[in-house]
Amino acid sequence: MNLEEVKRLDDEERIRFIQRDRFVKYPRARRILDRLEDLLKYPDTLRPPSFMIVGDPNNGKTALALYFLRNNLPYERESGEIVYPVVFVQAPEKPDLSRFYDYVLDALKIPYRRSAPLSHREALIEQAFEEYSVKLIIIDEIHNVLSGSTLKQREFMNGLKNLTNYTKRPLVLVGTKDALIATDTDAQIASRFKPEYLPLWTYDKDYLSFLNAIEKTLPLRKKSDIAFNERLSRKILELSEGYIGEIVSIIKELAVLAIRSGKEKIDISLLRELGWVAPSGRRNVTGLG
Ligand SMILES: Nc1ncnc2c1ncn2[C@@H]1O[C@H](COP(=O)(O)OP(=O)(O)OP(=O)(O)O)[C@@H](O)[C@H]1O
Ligand SMILES: [Mg+2]
Repeated sequence: MNLEEVKRLDDEERIRFIQRDRFVKYPRARRILDRLEDLLKYPDTLRPPSFMIVGDPNNGKTALALYFLRNNLPYERESGEIVYPVVFVQAPEKPDLSRFYDYVLDALKIPYRRSAPLSHREALIEQAFEEYSVKLIIIDEIHNVLSGSTLKQREFMNGLKNLTNYTKRPLVLVGTKDALIATDTDAQIASRFKPEYLPLWTYDKDYLSFLNAIEKTLPLRKKSDIAFNERLSRKILELSEGYIGEIVSIIKELAVLAIRSGKEKIDISLLRELGWVAPSGRRNVTGLG
């Protein structure tokens, strides 16, 4: 169904449509997606070119990784071979290599004994990468590594380095700024994971074109031209405090309000009506910090 058809649906259906997750591209995301694409095609090498996606919480890191994953889902070759171009896992809650290997094997649906020694599981992973033509592994929430002793952190990061050595495939880490500390335990590791930042949004051309792109996904019956309304676009940015998750939520809620009120377009009075509390304000209300 195209957007014009969605616009003709009833209010509740249009609201459900708005509330769904969707990934809207923006220049920085495009650049990172291109880099990920390059890594997929990169030949096996002893020192594969890895990198790290770094950004504040609620700023689109996981959404970006999942978008890439969705575009590179497992498939079956005519020969019957199964191909897993990308393995996406979360880092364990603590720097625990054993747990991490479990996650990787589970992602590839490889059966193994939980009691199998680390070396055995490493061998299984190496085999699986070969068998399923795995091209890239992405590890989200890598800052979790910091919730362990320096020794454990270093052990874990070395484990990751070894993983790229024996699979000969690149590794992409995803995490908050704290993740930089984790890779900083060792100059050799830091040099392998150069950061690619997803910074907080500011009032600029990219922000306005992002607003425009989001507006184009909304099934409202009238144009809002949010990006061309400076007061409105500035206010949305201010209330979002620069987090993409907030920007997207504000606009989605405004769109829902636009439908419920019968206005069919987003404007500054609707934003006032929404009474959005900025994230820092929310923390103050709960008294947690
Ligand atoms: N490009 C995008 N287009 C539309 N929505 C997006 C986009 N990027 C992020 N979002 C939305 O913003 C919210 C936060 O994104 P996400 O979960 O990726 O943040 P994160 O950086 O991984 O946060 P955390 O550090 O807390 O894990 C999600 O609801 C997501 O759907
Ligand atoms: Mg995330």
